[in-house]
Amino acid sequence: MNSTLDKLIAQIGELPPLPVVTQKALDVIRDPNSSMGDLAKILSMDEAMTSLVLRWVNSAYYGLKYPVSTVQQAVTFLGQRTLHSLVLAASVASLLDRSAPGYALERGELWRHSIGVAAGARLIAAKFGQRIAEEAYHAGLLCDIGKLAFEVLLRNVDTSTEEWQGDFREMEYIHYGVDHATLGAEMARRWRLPNTLVDAIAHHHNPSEAEEGFLLAAAVHVADAAAMSLGIGIGKDGLQYILDEAACEKVGWSDSMFNDLSARIIPFVEEADQYIRARRKS
Ligand SMILES: [Fe+2]
Repeated sequence: MNSTLDKLIAQIGELPPLPVVTQKALDVIRDPNSSMGDLAKILSMDEAMTSLVLRWVNSAYYGLKYPVSTVQQAVTFLGQRTLHSLVLAASVASLLDRSAPGYALERGELWRHSIGVAAGARLIAAKFGQRIAEEAYHAGLLCDIGKLAFEVLLRNVDTSTEEWQGDFREMEYIHYGVDHATLGAEMARRWRLPNTLVDAIAHHHNPSEAEEGFLLAAAVHVADAAAMSLGIGIGKDGLQYILDEAACEKVGWSDSMFNDLSARIIPFVEEADQYIRARRKS
């Protein structure tokens, strides 16, 4: 690890860990000898996870005729890939449902933005196959996870001063030597997520510099810009978004794609919003 990042993490104290239930579920998903029943068993043990899975499977998005009432049924219906995405979403929901005043984000906005980028990145990457599309969803969901760690430092900084004006990500660099993307990638690495995902998180603002995660970074980058222009979670780093040309070309970005995306992202974000509100009450 580079020493600037090392020092920054020491300053923060500790990076947010991945919840134990998620780590267990991801281990089962990665294990070729495990069954869908093993996964259902782990998910059933966690109330928040169970409620998310059931809420999602019964949402308008899937349009089921009869409601699904058990995790076991949901696991069978959704399949492992979608489940993988849900497990991650449920895990980061509690982490992302916080205000981030340093980024001018109110409580719930970081969650809404992340879920919007995730859904957008999945749609954008769909033409490259279902596996890539689900990975793009994960990368979108986690792209700004580093803001949670950065927030600990920014809490004590007045970012409305002249010193902090300009490209916010550049300001992170100037003041701390790394940006939220690098810090988020380090969190993902510690959570033992795949390298392509780590690379995509690290380069979601500069996808042309990504290596193995270029396609994912490109999908997330474009989805991030689209979510910003739809007004979903506009924080300080979204005010000066410059689209990367190579990324647009890679994913075949067009006006009709944007229209399609906005029509589908908005209901998805609303659904996620309802979920997080219900979660706060429980
Ligand atoms: Fe970002």
